[in-house]
Amino acid sequence: MNPYPAHADAFQLTAPVRLWEDGFAADPHSYYATLKAQGPIGWAELAPGIPAYVVTDRRAALDLLHDEESFSVDPRPWEATVAEDSPILGMMRWRPNTLFADGEEHVRYRRTLVDAFAMVEPHDLRERVHHAVDVLLSRFGPNGQADLVGEFARPMMALIFNNLFGLPDSESGRLDAALGQMMEGGERAAEGEAEYGRYVLELIGAKMAERGPDLTSALLDHPLALTPEEVTWQVFLTLGAGHEPTSNLISNALSRILGNPAYYSTLTSGARPVMDAVMEVLRYETPLANYDIHFARKPMSFHGMWLQAAVPIVISFGAMAHFAELEFAGTHHPHDASHMSFSAGAHTCPVKQHTLLIATEAIERLTQWLPDLDPVLPRERLTWRPGPFHRSLTALPVRFTPRTPDQPGGRA
Ligand code: HEM
Repeated sequence: MNPYPAHADAFQLTAPVRLWEDGFAADPHSYYATLKAQGPIGWAELAPGIPAYVVTDRRAALDLLHDEESFSVDPRPWEATVAEDSPILGMMRWRPNTLFADGEEHVRYRRTLVDAFAMVEPHDLRERVHHAVDVLLSRFGPNGQADLVGEFARPMMALIFNNLFGLPDSESGRLDAALGQMMEGGERAAEGEAEYGRYVLELIGAKMAERGPDLTSALLDHPLALTPEEVTWQVFLTLGAGHEPTSNLISNALSRILGNPAYYSTLTSGARPVMDAVMEVLRYETPLANYDIHFARKPMSFHGMWLQAAVPIVISFGAMAHFAELEFAGTHHPHDASHMSFSAGAHTCPVKQHTLLIATEAIERLTQWLPDLDPVLPRERLTWRPGPFHRSLTALPVRFTPRTPDQPGGRA
């Protein structure tokens, strides 16, 4: 059976750009260049036989993201055209949460999350970040070597979220592993999604039984009175929406800092703030590379492309970031270009300030404890996890002088 919608031949003059190929992770820029050559909106595959429009132009993206009348985030009409066992559904299947809701329903769900996160004060969040970094440092610090993706950025976000949502540190490994599998969108995506679902259900069960000073309890008790099932779906979304991109933001920033000796040495002398490295990633190598999926409510012409309904339209933050880097090449400073990494419009990331605080505090705390972090590999030899949606390192191996948080005279 032809997996493409009937309209495909009408505008599909070139082969779709295969964002699911391993080559995409190895060299995203050439894939983005091919997409960009098709105009503001290109034509790609998110998985074999799963076509999508990809917006690579900033103006087109902003027009789309601010036009709720023409575009919806509800994927159900598209889902009806996709095989039940397609691995891509882990990231795209409709669920009753803020990400897949339009209009008033969206505002209701989103409000509860915004209010719950507003209760987390910066000094409190900073302390939670320090706690997580110190827990991890006590594990790998004495070894004198570590993988800053697998032993630092990912488990740290899992520790922080367990803590914020009210589960003990011991549960954080499960969250980390399940989300990683789901995000890659490969053969084990369904397994990861199922395990992640169990994790969230257990969390809600524990908080239904006994409330605590955590985000889950705040969501259960919010005046907008979401049902426990609705809270479950918001938590399911938020843990995933936060864990993956923020750990990738941290490891991508660390790889830039460590891969550039001038940067790193000025960093330790205090001349250049960690925030610069974080902003550099958001501007030029954003961790949520392709997402914010919309659907035209009816067939329409848009920025030179005839859009069919029920075909995903993906915003390529990665392509936009890449072309921003080219534009500013040679002259750029981290403050030269604005970025779209948190998206725009109704669904713009509601947790930007918390994210920036987590990322900068985590890197600062780590580099204060371990000021002589030394990358084992040059940056160009690092490898990236496959998947159409993220920009995510497989590992970031480093060496350093062994250290423990409780050694005499040693404190961050
Ligand atoms: C503490 C960490 C984070 C949390 C809890 C979080 C949570 C969320 C939530 C709940 C949404 C859905 C909003 C809605 O539909 O109204 C969202 C959207 C979004 N977030 Fe975040 N986020 C975090 C970090 C990040 C990071 C690091 C990035 C990328 C740099 C990012 C990029 C985005 C984007 C692009 C959207 C729009 C996606 C879409 O509508 O499909 N977020 N985030």
